[in-house]
Amino acid sequence: MHSPIIIALDYPQQQPALQLLQQLDPQLCRVKVGKEMFTRLGPAFVEACMSRGFDVFLDLKFHDIPNTVAGACRAGADLGVWMMNVHASGGRRMMQAAREAVDKSSSETLLIAVTILTSLSEEELAEIGYSDSAADNVSRLAALAKDSGMHGVVCSPREARQLRSDLGDEFLLVTPGVRPSGSDTADQRRVMTPLDAMHAGSSYLVIGRPITAAENPLQALQQIADSIA
Ligand code: C5P
Repeated sequence: MHSPIIIALDYPQQQPALQLLQQLDPQLCRVKVGKEMFTRLGPAFVEACMSRGFDVFLDLKFHDIPNTVAGACRAGADLGVWMMNVHASGGRRMMQAAREAVDKSSSETLLIAVTILTSLSEEELAEIGYSDSAADNVSRLAALAKDSGMHGVVCSPREARQLRSDLGDEFLLVTPGVRPSGSDTADQRRVMTPLDAMHAGSSYLVIGRPITAAENPLQALQQIADSIA
């Protein structure tokens, strides 16, 4: 079964993450491993997720010279991850090198790009030299990502409708900032429900605490899956 739900495993240790995986169903979700867990636990943790049947999105957001990013992406593809990402602001040659490296591997790893970090305010963007609005920068970088061979981008669900219409049906839009109605938004500000995000054009929903912090994570996952079925 194809599930658009990606669960963000944001834990400081392996134990609670593996406990969660034990309760979840790999038919209903994939998992995202980010910088914290990967820096602590390395490829062995990614392999532990995969050996339990879960596809892994390795969220390391590479940003470096083309040769270095290509090597890192090849390493991720050789590890067999389902999806990984780079920063679109690394530029066309960096993204092209990443894609070529992944294509040489035997696994069919999907490569997506981060456009503008949603944590950046318009003032902070100006301070690092981006002159247009965040939305304009997102559109420009997403188009560049597509043109440079990326399979998709990470974006806010608020940006999904515009990007879907600009970049076509095949381009993957991976959206965090998703909250089932009535759940705690925590530190997320501009959230959308899973169903609204799917209607706006999301391909995959990255969801963390509404599932990981639920009393019954499998039930929470099932409810979200039902809400978008
Ligand atoms: O717990 P929650 O659902 O807020 O987790 C969302 C996940 O997506 C976290 O791993 C967070 O770092 C990530 N993320 C995000 N917003 C972005 C990019 C990534 O929330 N713009």
